[in-house]
Amino acid sequence: MNRVRKPYIAGNWKMNLDRSRALDLIKTIKGRLGDGNDREVAVFTPAVYLADVSAVAQGSPLGVGGQNLHWEQQGAFTGELSGKMLREVGADRVLIGHSERRHLFHEPDDWMGRKVRTALDCDLLPVLCIGETLDERSHNRTDRILKKQLESGLSAVQATETRRLTIAYEPVWAIGTGEVATPEQIAAAHALIRKWVGTKLGGDAAVTIRILYGGSVTPDNVKGIMASPDVDGVLVGGASLKPDTFLPIIEFETRA
Ligand code: 13P
Repeated sequence: MNRVRKPYIAGNWKMNLDRSRALDLIKTIKGRLGDGNDREVAVFTPAVYLADVSAVAQGSPLGVGGQNLHWEQQGAFTGELSGKMLREVGADRVLIGHSERRHLFHEPDDWMGRKVRTALDCDLLPVLCIGETLDERSHNRTDRILKKQLESGLSAVQATETRRLTIAYEPVWAIGTGEVATPEQIAAAHALIRKWVGTKLGGDAAVTIRILYGGSVTPDNVKGIMASPDVDGVLVGGASLKPDTFLPIIEFETRA
């Protein structure tokens, strides 16, 4: 497939693995990665493993990211991490607005624009996660929810910055459930996102921005997902925790 944008395959380890398994996994991925010219591969690790994981990844094209950040540089924010702190321990990117942050930890929409702005200002590559719940989909509110999340998440982004920004469409009902969205659902959501970016930030931004799909991605379904129009990569949870499942996803073209 002739792609306009470089495929981006990312693993979100969430609150999984231990230090030694995290290091084994990153060493294995690094060993299998080529020069990084044909795809971008990254892992979003628990913050406490960032320094060690990024030390292993150093010198390779592997990206290493945090799973959240606070928009302030410092202060009385117990339990939070600043962009500068993430940079200091070797992160080059960060997830923002993952559905688990939004739904389990009640992070509101209007935080996301500030977080995205801070990430860009700290020289971190943000991946803004958006997606509807099952209830929202069943009430035909998917489009409205995605637009609302885009509106707040991209409120402080300039058109020229969309090369450094990625959007991940992750329907909440598909995360960790084994229920992957259909090709039609994925194509429709990704088209809506790209159109929204074009309307707000211009045609160049719409062409350059990468949009990932996330939610029950496996070695068996990755090729079909990657063939869907407007899909530039995948954000993988459970299947990113083992080489047996993550490596075939990274090498998705070779799947039958
Ligand atoms: P699963 O791949 O386990 O469904 O998780 C998806 C996800 O939340 C990635 O951020």
